[in-house]
Amino acid sequence: MRNIFIAGNWKMNKDASQTQQFCTQLESHLQERDFGRVKAIVAPVHPFLAAAEGILRSAGVAAQDVSAHPQGAFTGEVSASQLASLGISHCIIGHSERRQYHGESDELVREKLLRLRENRIIPIVCIGETLLQREDGQTREVVLAQLEGCFEGVELASGEEVLIAYEPVWAIGTGKTATSAQAQEVHAEIRAWLKERYGEELAQKMHILYGGSAKPENIGELLEQPDIDGGLIGGASLQIESFCAMLDIALQNGGN
Ligand code: PGA
Repeated sequence: MRNIFIAGNWKMNKDASQTQQFCTQLESHLQERDFGRVKAIVAPVHPFLAAAEGILRSAGVAAQDVSAHPQGAFTGEVSASQLASLGISHCIIGHSERRQYHGESDELVREKLLRLRENRIIPIVCIGETLLQREDGQTREVVLAQLEGCFEGVELASGEEVLIAYEPVWAIGTGKTATSAQAQEVHAEIRAWLKERYGEELAQKMHILYGGSAKPENIGELLEQPDIDGGLIGGASLQIESFCAMLDIALQNGGN
């Protein structure tokens, strides 16, 4: 049985003390009961990863990005081995904001994926179509092409974790959530691709998260879908109350 991930992508929000306060409150919420298969992850900005990692015992800490280079003269970049030396468990790559504002390609995302695996950090690979692509009926084609590009030549050993986040670009930060049926349709396509590529066993084990205006009001319905294994949540992950509410809903949804 797969886990259910509630992953908060904080983007460029929260200062040092807000990060510390959120993590302290989250840790105490997670200590209150057994969350079973429900796994919490938060992704603060790079400078506060160590503080988050120091506080959180019951949740994973993710970076929001990583360099494609192993080390060297790359001013402003942070390598996978540096993240690993902090004990960081996960890292988001290929987020649509990186693709849109920093011109990141599937090839670059693939390089980042390889660096993370070399350092035993679990990648959270983001893919998703734009509104124009959806309206043109290209959703499946776009999403599968992104998967092909990001995973080209990447072999996965059984038991090795890579999370995929399906995030339709038109639903990110817009308040427009994909309906649970729209999301499930794409998640099922992704799992079918994984099956074809890596075999039934691995495809059934892999986690596919939904992202795009997920919040306490809709996370339950999304999680009821057979191929949705959690959420990558931006706006609604910033308030401790709504983040904890989503964890509780996930738990009620069969997390135990
Ligand atoms: P949102 O962001 O929940 O604010 O739409 C999701 C994401 O970008 O990961």
